[in-house]
Amino acid sequence: MGNIVSKNQVLYHVALSREMIKDTEYAVLPGDPGRVEMIAKQMDENAIHLATNREYTSYLAYLGKTPVLVCSTGMGAPSVGIAIEEFAMLGIKNFIRLGTCGAIQDHIDVGDIIITSAAVRLEGTSVHYAPLEYPAVANFALTQKLVTATQNLTSDFHVGITASSDTFFPGQERYDSYSGYVRKHFQGSMAEWQNLNVLNFEMEAAPLLTICSVFKLNAACICAAIVNRNKSEIPDKSKYDESMKKCIKAIAGAIESDVLANKRIK
Ligand code: URA
Repeated sequence: MGNIVSKNQVLYHVALSREMIKDTEYAVLPGDPGRVEMIAKQMDENAIHLATNREYTSYLAYLGKTPVLVCSTGMGAPSVGIAIEEFAMLGIKNFIRLGTCGAIQDHIDVGDIIITSAAVRLEGTSVHYAPLEYPAVANFALTQKLVTATQNLTSDFHVGITASSDTFFPGQERYDSYSGYVRKHFQGSMAEWQNLNVLNFEMEAAPLLTICSVFKLNAACICAAIVNRNKSEIPDKSKYDESMKKCIKAIAGAIESDVLANKRIK
């Protein structure tokens, strides 16, 4: 454990080196490459583009004197796994996923923010790192900072358990698909997760939290709800911009407070 690469070595998938990311210890990880520039520039209007390779689009932003890598992971667990491996080798210690999700509890509205305390591992990637009995749990200190920063912005947020699926359709028990069929294994699964007090479905939190715990790295996850599955199956992005802005502010606040707490001011 702990293979950190040399300063100018560009890693194969993310196309980044330690020099390019200015040895930052912080990464903000949206799924969508198309959101990276917007996120980076909200944190720092002078953020610069670093690389674009496959699903990994990256920018470097500064929060005060602290460099922050913003890089997309693409959709789903395998590409998250590759990103964490390479970012860990570049020296990143703190990973914050910023995504969208589908809420499954009645009290959560479209536009609300969900901070993940732990994730149900419905995907296959995390099992390559730890057995299913191992918990996908968010780093407490980083998550606490994210919660505090979010609390300062809005009361429309929730903290709890997320389910991370390898598929958007059958694994999240969606019938509005090409075949309309959900295999038996997943039939009734949404109701079960609701009864077990799971707040939301998405596709990336569990591998992130599991792999980071295994690697002794810190991970947290914040998502905007773009649908409430009890009310509709169709994502509604009308509140998306507003919620994203809050999530980005909360992430910036959490990183700033972590930098202060750890005296990582350079
Ligand atoms: N992302 C998901 O994986 N599911 C949703 O319902 C919304 C976003």
